[in-house]
This record gives sequence, C-alpha cells and structure tokens, in this order.
Amino acid sequence: MISPGSIEQLLNAVVIEDVVGDYVNLKRSGSRFKGVCPFHDEKTPSFIVSPGMGIYKCFGCQKGGNAIQFLMDIDNMSYPEAARALAARYGIELIETGNRDDDEYKEKQKIRESLQVALDYAADFFEKQLHEAEEGKTKAMPYFKERGYTYETIRKWRLGYSPEAWEAFTQTASKEGYKPENLELAGLIKKRENGSYYDLYRNRVIFPLIGVSGKLLGFAGRKMSSTDPAPKYVNSPETELYKKSDFLYGIFQAKNAIKKHDKVYLTEGYTDVITLHQAGIENVVASSGTALTPNQIKLIRRFTPNVTVVYDGDTAGIKASLRGIDLLLSDDLNVRVVSLPDGEDPDSYCAKLGGEAFSDYLHLEEQNFIIFKAKLLLSECGDDPIKKSEAIRDILQSVACMNDALKRNAMNQELARVCQTDEALLAAELGKLLRSRNLKHEQDFIKEVKQVTTASGIELPREELTDVFQERALFRILLLHGDSPWDDHTTVSDFILKELKEDEQLLFNDEMCAQIVSQVKFGVWDKWPGQAYFTNHSSPEIASWAAGILSSGYELSKAFADNFIHVKKEEENYRNDITAVFLYLRKKKLDNMIKHYTKSLQDPETDVSDTLEMLNYLNELRSRVSKDIGGVVFTI
Ligand code: CTP
Ligand code: MN
Repeated sequence: MISPGSIEQLLNAVVIEDVVGDYVNLKRSGSRFKGVCPFHDEKTPSFIVSPGMGIYKCFGCQKGGNAIQFLMDIDNMSYPEAARALAARYGIELIETGNRDDDEYKEKQKIRESLQVALDYAADFFEKQLHEAEEGKTKAMPYFKERGYTYETIRKWRLGYSPEAWEAFTQTASKEGYKPENLELAGLIKKRENGSYYDLYRNRVIFPLIGVSGKLLGFAGRKMSSTDPAPKYVNSPETELYKKSDFLYGIFQAKNAIKKHDKVYLTEGYTDVITLHQAGIENVVASSGTALTPNQIKLIRRFTPNVTVVYDGDTAGIKASLRGIDLLLSDDLNVRVVSLPDGEDPDSYCAKLGGEAFSDYLHLEEQNFIIFKAKLLLSECGDDPIKKSEAIRDILQSVACMNDALKRNAMNQELARVCQTDEALLAAELGKLLRSRNLKHEQDFIKEVKQVTTASGIELPREELTDVFQERALFRILLLHGDSPWDDHTTVSDFILKELKEDEQLLFNDEMCAQIVSQVKFGVWDKWPGQAYFTNHSSPEIASWAAGILSSGYELSKAFADNFIHVKKEEENYRNDITAVFLYLRKKKLDNMIKHYTKSLQDPETDVSDTLEMLNYLNELRSRVSKDIGGVVFTI
C-alpha cells in the first residue's frame, strides 16, 4: 500500500497539464486546457484539463480523474505503477507499506511488470556488452563510429551490442535469477525443441524500442556486415508490451520538439531518426519500414496535425507508400512531402549535407502531398489520355479523403492547374467520390453521438421518450427492407437489431414497438423473423399493428436524401431513412441531456464551468445532428 499522505503530496506536486500534455495536444482555453480526447474517437474536442483541480474530464466518453487515473487509463498501468511513475517524474518519495506484490496487482499487470524488468535488464546487458566487453568494443563500437554516431548519441538512444555466442544473454540472465519463461515472453530468448533456450539477438547492434512514455518495449537488432546473409533486422516479436502497429520509433525523444515546432517529420528507419536527431532535427519519428497504421496516426495527432513525410529517393518505394498517406489526410492532418535525390535516404543525405543544410533542404523542398502525388503520377502518363484520366481519378481519391471542404476546393483549383484540366470537370468527378465517402463519415458521426448519449447516466422521463412517428418509421423500414443489405456483410435487420440491443437508452413509446424492442434486448431473436411473421401473426393485435404500419406513409422528406447522403437510387433510400431515424432518436436524448445540465446550473453544488463546457459540446453535437437531418419530417 502507498500511504494516503504521500499520494496527496504527490498529487499536489503533479502538473496535470504536463502529464496529459505528453499524450494530448492541449490548447489553453481560459483557465483550463482543451484537446481531442485520447480515449475515444472524436473530431470535436471535448476533453478538458483543469489545472486548478488537477483533473481531466472528457464530456464525450465521460472518462475523467486525476493524474494517476490518467496514466492508468492511457498506459494501462495499475494504480501503484502510475503513482510510482509520477513520483519518479516529480522526484517525490512515496511511503509504501506492506508487500508491494499484494492483491491489488492483477495477474496481467504482474506479467507486464516482470516483462518490463526483464527488458530493462536486457537493455543494460546490451549496453554493457557494447561499452565494456572486448567483443563489443572491437566489433560494434567501430560500426557506430563508422555511421558517424557520437558517444552522446550512443548513450542517448541506449544503443547496444548482442554478442555472437548463442546463449550469452540467456546464461547471464539465468545466473542473475531471471526466469527463462519471462525472458521468452519478453521476446528476448527462444526455446529449442529439446527445451533449452537461445538468444534471439546475436551478433547485432541493438536499438532499444522506447514507447511514448519512455518505457522500454522491445529491441531491434541490426546486422553489422552487408555480406552477412541474415536478415538486416531482427525485431522484437509482438509481446504484452510491444505492439508494432502502435509504435513509432523516436516518439519519446521527439515529442517535445514535435510540440514546439508543431510539426513532425516522418521517416522509415531507426537510423534516419538517430542521424537527424544528432544533426539537431529532433521532431522526427520512424514508422519502422511499414505503411502507417491508424494507431500510429492517432499517436502523431496527439502532438501535431502537421506531418511531413520524408521519402527515400526511389520511385518504387514512394509509390508503395502513397496509399497509406490517404489515411493521414482523412484524419485531418496536413500532409507534406519531401523527396530526396535518387539513392539517398534521410540518414545518408543528412550525414552528407550536415544538419543545417539538410534542414534548409527540407524547408525548401517540402510540398503539398497531393500536388506531389499529381506531379509524380502524371509524369508517368506521357500523352496517353486514358492513363492520364486514371491518374487523375487516383489523385482525386486523395482529395476526397480531406474533410475540410474549403481545403478541398483550394486543392481542386491547384490541381486543375497542375493537371491542365478543367476545374469544373474535376469538381464533378470529386463530387461523385465524395458521395460514397460521406456515407461512411456519417456513420462515424453517428457513432460519436451514440457514444455520448449512451455514456451519460441520465435517465429519460418516460413521457419524454422518442416520438412515435419515428419509432414506427423505423419498424416500417424493418418490415419492408429487413432483408435488404445494409453493407457488404450485414442486412438492414442485423444492423437495426444490433443498434437496438447495444443502446440501452433507446427506449420506445409506441407500445408494440417497445414490446418488440425489449424482446430484442432480451435476445428473443437472433435474427429478424421477417415481415410475414408479423402480418400473419395469430395475435390480431400484432397483425393489425403491422398492417397499419405498412399501409401508412411514414416517409422521410426528400430533402434528406438530397442534402445529406445524395443517394440517387430510389431503392437505396432506406439507408438514409435508417440513419435519419437513429439520429432523431438520439437527438431526443441530446435534448434531454441539455435540459438536464441546464437545470443543474441552478444547483449550488454544480461545477459551473464544467457544466457550461459540457453544454457547449452537447449543443455543438445537437446542431450538427439537426443540420444532418435537415428538413426531414415524418408524417402520417
Ligand atoms: N526494417 C526491418 N527489417 C528489415 C528491413 C527493414 O524491420 N529486414 C525496418 C526497420 O525499422 C528499418 C526500416 O525498416 O529501420 C527501414 O529500412 P532500411 O532503410 O533498410 O534500414 P535502416 O534502418 O535505414 O538501416 P540502414 O540505414 O543501415 O540501411
Ligand atoms: Mn536506411
């Protein structure tokens, strides 16, 4: 147990905006800070940090608490782990009583901690092998010197060396009392068929992989000789701690510089990051040679929306990564690119030019990603009009990924110039692409609304539930289109049933609708029984309810289809209708939440600024919902 007194002392010392600021790009807003919540997907910032109270709070997903809670949430730490991490950061000594390994440790966290201990031990081992052992000093140190790394650089990145012997680490670690099972789980050693173990990293220089909060997650070992037939890198396997798709090399060392410059340079390799850092360019990370993943992008966004991708100078590599960049665009990041001369990578070219000249090069050569892509693709088309139109469509795909209409338009103008094509033609083509994209975006927005309305614990008074028109409209769609496709994998009824099941707050007024929904929630049907089940039902009440719904005209206004999703085909309008109905049902909930919080302002116990902030956010969501459902009216 950590004594309550020292927890209090700790929390007094902690600067919450710094702790959270390591993970979230916070902007000052009055006496507080605001940012995009790291715990759920959102575009509208609803995440608040109050330094005065030492707490954070997300109005979207309702997560909140003090600095200890924050680390527990974001880094999956246990309470004592988080407290100790903060204590170390602020130089505070925690008074701990009793056994550190008492019940509060969950089994998983125990494993994680022992993996962490094993990794930290291994990093020390590899460093010692480099700096102290004869083998390392004569084989690995010259390799690093050859690459131009200074002593400070080698220490800063905790570079190391793994000896050539098969069991150097295995044996040393076992002698120190480390269990082979744990070392194996940590991705350091492997088991032979006869049950003995051997080192994963042998005869390699070692790059420790450090996570965003400074914790060691794994290693990469690079071979030292180009004639060695072994693979260039041996990388840490996926472990409880290391997830390749969440990891960006250098993020811990780069994050302050990224925030300061409000920009990150994205490279491919470990060595690119290290060389640029040494040359004084510290806002740089590497994706470890693979296409970017959504989680890596999320990690970047915590610190800056401005990404400059630095490409190696070969066209094949560039073309392979073009597609991945669209992900950055669709996350509202501003993407620029710099391409390097043929045969150079950031590491080699920076070493060649020196830091200052390389930095100038980056600034001068940096260009907008889409323009870059356009020039690249068009340069390969020659005079072939078919190829050219394919290239243009490909480029427009990227433009369609951008969410900001103003930016899209500006881009279109510029593209018309670069492609020497009519701007109106481009705009029309783009419009087509956008229509299919909007459908997906709308679904994302609906998810955000759903999250907010379901996370709030506020109960709706019965009489303020949804309007029966909308409820019946939903069931009319179910009866008519239940078996139609919703997307590639699900039918309309699958989708609606799932929504009804998941959302506790979707309660219904119409008696029959309410009855069916509660049956759905209780899992009476896995599958929708179909229209005939209701119209031919032996209970006349049910049969006539179904007939009534089917024969009436609960139609959505066409304004909806025209303004919002633009689905042309008549038979596909049910998708719009479903989207609109769910938005309607949830808007009702938003209305009530707004009422609830407005009323609570009169309560002297209420935190006024928190509540106003919450109301702001809810109103923003509601106005977007209203805009989306526009002039839709349900009529009989
Ligand atoms: N990579 C890998 N395994 C390989 C090759 C590459 O994991 N067999 C990853 C590494 O993260 C590497 C990145 O892809 O850093 C870029 O590859 P490359 O440019 O070949 O390696 P560098 O680290 O840049 O090494 P060097 O500059 O010495 O060629
Ligand atoms: Mn390289």
